[in-house]
Amino acid sequence: MGVSGSGKSYIGRLLAKKLDFHFIEGDDYHPKSNIQKMAGGEALNDTDRLPWLRILNAAAIPYKTTGVVIACSALKERYRKELMRNIASDACLWVFLEGSFELIEQRLSQRTDHFMPSSLLRSQFETLEIPKHCFKVDIQRSAKQIINTIHKKIMQKSQFGVMGLGVMGTSLSRNLARNGVHLSLYNRHLSGKEEGVAKKRIVDYSELQDAKGFDDLERFVASIEKPRKILLVLTAGPAIDEVIGELQKYMEAGDILIDGGNSHFHDTSRRTEALLKQGIYFLGMGISGGEKGALEGPSLMPGGSKQGYLLVKDILLSIAAKSSNGVPCCHFIGSQGAGHFVKTVHNGIEYAEMQLIAELYHFLQIGLGLDNEQIANHFSSWCMTDSNSYLLDISSKILRHKEDDDYLLDLILDKASHKGTGAWATIAGAELGVSVSMMAAALNARQLTALKSKRISMAATFTPSTAPQNIDVAAIKKAYDLARLLNHDQGFELLRSASEQYNWELNLGEIAQTWSGGCIIKSSLMEDLEKVYAQVESLLFHPNLIMQIKTTLEALESFVIAGVKGGIPLACFMEALLYVQMITQARSSGNMIQAQRDFFGSHQYQKINDSSQKWYHNRW
Ligand code: 6PG
Repeated sequence: MGVSGSGKSYIGRLLAKKLDFHFIEGDDYHPKSNIQKMAGGEALNDTDRLPWLRILNAAAIPYKTTGVVIACSALKERYRKELMRNIASDACLWVFLEGSFELIEQRLSQRTDHFMPSSLLRSQFETLEIPKHCFKVDIQRSAKQIINTIHKKIMQKSQFGVMGLGVMGTSLSRNLARNGVHLSLYNRHLSGKEEGVAKKRIVDYSELQDAKGFDDLERFVASIEKPRKILLVLTAGPAIDEVIGELQKYMEAGDILIDGGNSHFHDTSRRTEALLKQGIYFLGMGISGGEKGALEGPSLMPGGSKQGYLLVKDILLSIAAKSSNGVPCCHFIGSQGAGHFVKTVHNGIEYAEMQLIAELYHFLQIGLGLDNEQIANHFSSWCMTDSNSYLLDISSKILRHKEDDDYLLDLILDKASHKGTGAWATIAGAELGVSVSMMAAALNARQLTALKSKRISMAATFTPSTAPQNIDVAAIKKAYDLARLLNHDQGFELLRSASEQYNWELNLGEIAQTWSGGCIIKSSLMEDLEKVYAQVESLLFHPNLIMQIKTTLEALESFVIAGVKGGIPLACFMEALLYVQMITQARSSGNMIQAQRDFFGSHQYQKINDSSQKWYHNRW
């Protein structure tokens, strides 16, 4: 396409020859009346052009699967739509032959074999609407160069495909493109809701200008070089199985499919195994960091097929966040659903980290009477210390944020939602026999906040105790640091146990490094944990951390007591305290449980005065 004199016919004919496509010369299809009009120096209007475009479209249709090059000015969006009737937009490439008025005028003035006088050129330039999504070629280049460039563009396969162009999929695609990865983008077509999404993204984001956009799955898969590498960024659930089923029709042995959503790790294990039967390498990859992380560098937790990982490793490393020492926050996690399991535990830790901050905010506000700015100032100053974390930092920003004259936080309804991963992490703890009481408390707290109307009616009946608080902020900070340490201990213990249970050989130090940049739970503590897990198996065995527990336990006790006395629920802090109390008890109350079990169910018990570990039953 392009104005008269831009070289469409010449280039189009040669290009068709090179591609072995049929060629349609638009001018040959003009009705006589149009030719006479133009020859008489009169410009064509829309009414003149529309029948001509319909004829051209009808002439092209028979070649839509085998390939056709059409040389046509197609100056307006409306004309191009007419030409594309019944032809999928992702099956077509608009090549715009671009040149200046002066250059084209000079070329036209030398032409004798054409009915279009150069005087009409001005009106063509005025009519021209350059397509938003097209391949522009500078007509100053030689014909050979022009044809080779277009040919290369048409034949070139993409290195990587992204499927699902919501917020995360779009941000990851932009990140990939910025890192020089040639992309094919796909989004489903939902009439009236999601139409031409991939093409729109390409127009909206300059980084994506070289990407190819599709809403036809077969063409999308075919546009990617083999072995094909496709990343799914879709809402987790049964829909993933449906999409995989569709993709399986077009993918083949050796291809790599990555699920970048928050899928359940059991589903990922099942899919890894099922796809391997077809020779397709499947990866379940946890991605953390939200929209900003996806765009600027997320934390990536790929698991599943190691062979598949090795084929996409360089691409993943190029887009991942880097920790402060410059190492990419991406490591192969382990086989089966290990990547998604680790992401689930990440989210469990995230829940408790968020809840601890929410409880701090509540206590500082209600217990100590501080306003939003004062609380924000404390959080910001803590961020200058070892307590620094992404979540604490964003919380200080949230506290300061105003909508007109009001603090936005004060206007937000106090009903917390969740999408399920915190529950999965808690369930995994229960199934694997690991205490994850802090993430469970955080989940529980969200569930109770959701009961807004019940809470309101109960509040009218009960008056909570509100004893005056005399705890200072320095002690609260110590309690916070200790509670965070314990939350991380519980999360990493869950990883350790799963690793043993499923033979994943998880490397806890490497996982801490993966979480030290890009993700929601990145923090100074996480950076330290990378070193800690290189030295000890469990965080609670590290001498410095044992010392921290010893020296700050009193602060945690005082804070929890202050919460109890002030009627301010500090659920996560309380669980942290209970965890220390219970894990440091040489003699627990477990003997009573064993006796009760044996009494009513003959479940048997062992005795401390019998070193053979024999099992006894008593006739109570
Ligand atoms: C991340 C987040 C991200 C998201 C989850 C949690 O690491 O980027 O964890 O995956 O925030 O959807 O959501 P809920 O709080 O709604 O469960």
